[in-house]
Amino acid sequence: MSDLRKTSVQELLRSTDLDREVLVKGWVRTRRGNKYVQFIAVNDGSGFNSIQVVANAEQFPEEQLKADGVENGAAIAVRGRLVASQGKGQSVEIQAEEITVYGSADPTTYPLQKKGHSLEFLREIAHLRPRTNTFGAVLRIRHAMSFAIHKYFNDHGYFYIHTPIITGSDAEGAGQMFRVTTLSDTKPPLSEAGEVDYTADFFGKATNLTVSGQLEGEVAAMALGKVYTFGPTFRAENSNTARHLAEFWMIEPEVAFHDLQDNMDLAEDFLRSLVRYALEHCPDDLQFLNDQYDKELLSRLQFVVDNEFKRLTYTEAVEILKSAKQKFEFPVDWGTDLQSEHERYLVEKHFRKPVILTNYPKDIKAFYMKLDEDGRTVQAMDVLFPGIGEIIGGSAREDSMQKLTQRMQEMHVPEEDLWWYLDTRRYGSAPHAGFGLGFERLILFITGMANIRDVIPFPRFPKSAEF
Ligand code: 4AD
Ligand code: MG
Repeated sequence: MSDLRKTSVQELLRSTDLDREVLVKGWVRTRRGNKYVQFIAVNDGSGFNSIQVVANAEQFPEEQLKADGVENGAAIAVRGRLVASQGKGQSVEIQAEEITVYGSADPTTYPLQKKGHSLEFLREIAHLRPRTNTFGAVLRIRHAMSFAIHKYFNDHGYFYIHTPIITGSDAEGAGQMFRVTTLSDTKPPLSEAGEVDYTADFFGKATNLTVSGQLEGEVAAMALGKVYTFGPTFRAENSNTARHLAEFWMIEPEVAFHDLQDNMDLAEDFLRSLVRYALEHCPDDLQFLNDQYDKELLSRLQFVVDNEFKRLTYTEAVEILKSAKQKFEFPVDWGTDLQSEHERYLVEKHFRKPVILTNYPKDIKAFYMKLDEDGRTVQAMDVLFPGIGEIIGGSAREDSMQKLTQRMQEMHVPEEDLWWYLDTRRYGSAPHAGFGLGFERLILFITGMANIRDVIPFPRFPKSAEF
């Protein structure tokens, strides 16, 4: 086999150059047939569809294939002729001439059986679930969306900034943090007051995993103008929901001289471009997910591409919610944070399209958001999506040193930790705005999956860090 170059399954399926010798390597998805002929579906991950290998029983008796371990899950190489397919469902197939088994998979113990498995069960074998149709599709879409995000920003003149994962400030206010330490578990050095002495720790101070790259992103925007981050973020909240992870990826653009309006325009154009990219580049995977899980997936994606988002203020939304006929579990009152039931009512029932809510009460938003003239609200924006709720959170940033430090004092954010952040306001401060897109929430929307634990290879959530 060695003189022949391996071809990917996707390339072969597209090929019109038939009746030639080919070599393919991948994993057996199914093997079926009878005493005359065996059909082996081989998938190498290059795309959704497998290629059918036809093995004539004279050369490859079923008993021999079994004895060699050509079973569901085995890794094999097949050399043979690429020919037009006689059967339905594929245009080409391979007539096997030689089959090599790299690694067999004992059918009596291999956890993935031909019959489908529940998503809950597959979560318990997250190391094997990439081999299923569903997770192959999700992971390829995840890749395509990562690429589309970088492409969008690169095409629009943004610079990718790598913000730190380990952070020395725990003041960003976006959520509970995970401590990073090398101090002894059993006998950490103690201060006179009996507290752990982090000056003796690796970094000479207490450090945590970051909840957001925003503050460092702002620093970069004050020099490079248009920047974005795309990295992992960590939140130690005990949120056991289908929308929360303890480790998730976030995309955070930050743009000098943008106001709230520009920020909304960017968020909307960005999201619609990403959905369009998925429709154009992932048709097979999306079609499968549409057929298998959610018959409205493709039409919902097309709807987002074709329609503008509804924009309104928090205050207007509260009026709508108060006069809604629907009973909510949590009452709505101006000044309280909206719950996901409220967000979903606005998006799914009232407007029936994505919504951007702006100008929230200052007390329910972060210290760095730009104060409105009324002094009661801030220039925040949340983008709400059907089936998801909040997919983006962002704002125009407070660029006045005086107003920013006043907000920090009111909200008990320690200035000494953020002296470097305050320097951006002290020297050459400029209006700017940005937002954070939760990558897994985007993938939830694009794939139509129902649980965020099923759109990341190895989910991290309370009591779960296996794999
Ligand atoms: O609204 P958040 O907390 O905003 C920030 O962190 C800002 N620093 C962003 C910025 O302005 N640069 O988070 C942003 C987005 C949310 O809208 C949501 O999509 C996602 O991150 N997100 C989560 N996704 C999964 N699991 C969690 N626990 C999440 N928390 C937030
Ligand atoms: Mg938010």
